[in-house]
Amino acid sequence: MSNILETENLCKEYPLPKGMLCVFKELNFELEKGDLTAVMGVSGVGKTTLLNLFGVLDRPTQGKVFLEGEDVFAKDEKQKAEIRNKKIGFIFQFYHLLSEFTVLENVSFPLLIRGIERKEAQRRAFEVLKEVFLEGKTSLRPGQISGGEQQRVAIARALVNEPKLLLADEPTGNLDWKTGKAILELIKELHRKKELSSIIVTHNEKVAQFCNKTYIMESGNLKLLSHA
Ligand SMILES: Nc1ncnc2c1ncn2[C@@H]1O[C@H](COP(=O)(O)OP(=O)(O)OP(=O)(O)O)[C@@H](O)[C@H]1O
Ligand SMILES: [Mg+2]
Repeated sequence: MSNILETENLCKEYPLPKGMLCVFKELNFELEKGDLTAVMGVSGVGKTTLLNLFGVLDRPTQGKVFLEGEDVFAKDEKQKAEIRNKKIGFIFQFYHLLSEFTVLENVSFPLLIRGIERKEAQRRAFEVLKEVFLEGKTSLRPGQISGGEQQRVAIARALVNEPKLLLADEPTGNLDWKTGKAILELIKELHRKKELSSIIVTHNEKVAQFCNKTYIMESGNLKLLSHA
């Protein structure tokens, strides 16, 4: 099977005071193994909603998501938490690091959650922090490092459990272009080195140029715009 991720008639509605808001109702999408894919589209079209479903952070109203052929939302909560922890790495626009903990602790957490002993977790976290060139900042807290560095910590945290799927929601949206470009180059290099399949949500066409496919989300559907 060459697809890591597939959806089947995916539907997401949000309840609003005046009734249901339908973001998409029959969305069908495939992500091929090894793809580095950009998803673009105007604000409010549903990019984050979709990424949150792919990341098992939310559940669809109807339809299915298959990750490596497994029907993710047919699983119970414990199994879903395990899929999130082991198979998926998530990067957010605003990093979402834990401010009370050091860089090393932030990156160790996903390993502790899966039951790895603290010393070993810290050893592995340190190795990944080296890959994002932060071995000199491991004992600092997020508030003591720059935005670009915080995003590199978030990348290390996303990758420490060796996921198959990397999901990034506007990973450079909060950074100047020079820093953002360096972050994208790092994501692209790690994507290649770790044989990931990745989706980057972005408003920015320059970001999409780092990817080998670009989809645009419009009126509840994803259309393939370009394929390198
Ligand atoms: N928790 C929620 N409850 C109700 N409506 C929501 C919720 N989250 C998102 N929406 C609505 O769903 C639609 C899609 O939102 P979403 O955040 O997915 O858009 P987006 O494409 O990521 O936008 P942006 O580019 O601004 O981040 C919007 O109309 C938004 O207002
Ligand atoms: Mg969004």
